[in-house]
Amino acid sequence: MTAPVLTPDQRRKLDERDDALFYQMPRLVTHVDDGFIQQLTQLYRERLTPGGCLLDLMSSWVSHLPPEMDFAEVVGHGMNAEELARNPRLTRYFVQNLNRDLRLPLADHSFDAVLNAVSVQYLQYPEAIFAEIHRVLKPGGIAIVSFSNRMFYQKAIQAWRDATDELRIELVKRYFQAVPGFGEIEVIARRPVSVNLALAWLGLGGGDPFYAVLARKVG
Ligand SMILES: C[S@@+](CC[C@H](N)C(=O)[O-])C[C@H]1O[C@@H](n2cnc3c(N)ncnc32)[C@H](O)[C@@H]1O
Repeated sequence: MTAPVLTPDQRRKLDERDDALFYQMPRLVTHVDDGFIQQLTQLYRERLTPGGCLLDLMSSWVSHLPPEMDFAEVVGHGMNAEELARNPRLTRYFVQNLNRDLRLPLADHSFDAVLNAVSVQYLQYPEAIFAEIHRVLKPGGIAIVSFSNRMFYQKAIQAWRDATDELRIELVKRYFQAVPGFGEIEVIARRPVSVNLALAWLGLGGGDPFYAVLARKVG
């Protein structure tokens, strides 16, 4: 059983319509800047094992995996079939609204890693989804949740919209902590330094901040 982290209000989105409507049209864009993507790919290079089985949860047409690394299987999940069909790294994929159907159609203990890139802010029931991530991971498998400060504002949950970057890191830590059986939680937080002092004073410039929260399944 997972303890609730969020109140009902904190799960609310400004746009309460079915997410399927919002993701109906493919978006063949990148949602963060090149500096963020390079850091994410490097993190994957350092933490993923070649030949393993991966799940890219809340994916799109890109998975940001190191091009030189091969994997036995990369299962993609997302909301738009056309985006997923164009993702060259996926060996198979499925479409599922995780705010409506909280159970993944995947076997227990089947993945060496579960990846979630720049998407966790859209989950209205993160406790249930993190429990599913734990269920499908093999013992010792790793979950890597990355995010920046960008979002589709009207589709992000209230708890995320109202939080600072620091509080968002705490929130993702609490999602992991809500599931018994995740080990030590690691946080990577890198805020690029702006070369322009005026922009730096305003907290602007220097590129997208890079945040990742990682944990391994211990039990
Ligand atoms: C900002 S995109 C990130 C896509 C990809 N991970 C990347 O790095 O470019 C957010 C993704 O979250 C997923 N998503 C949003 N709402 C969802 C929902 N209700 N259920 C399942 N997935 C959802 C969609 O697949 C969408 O492509």
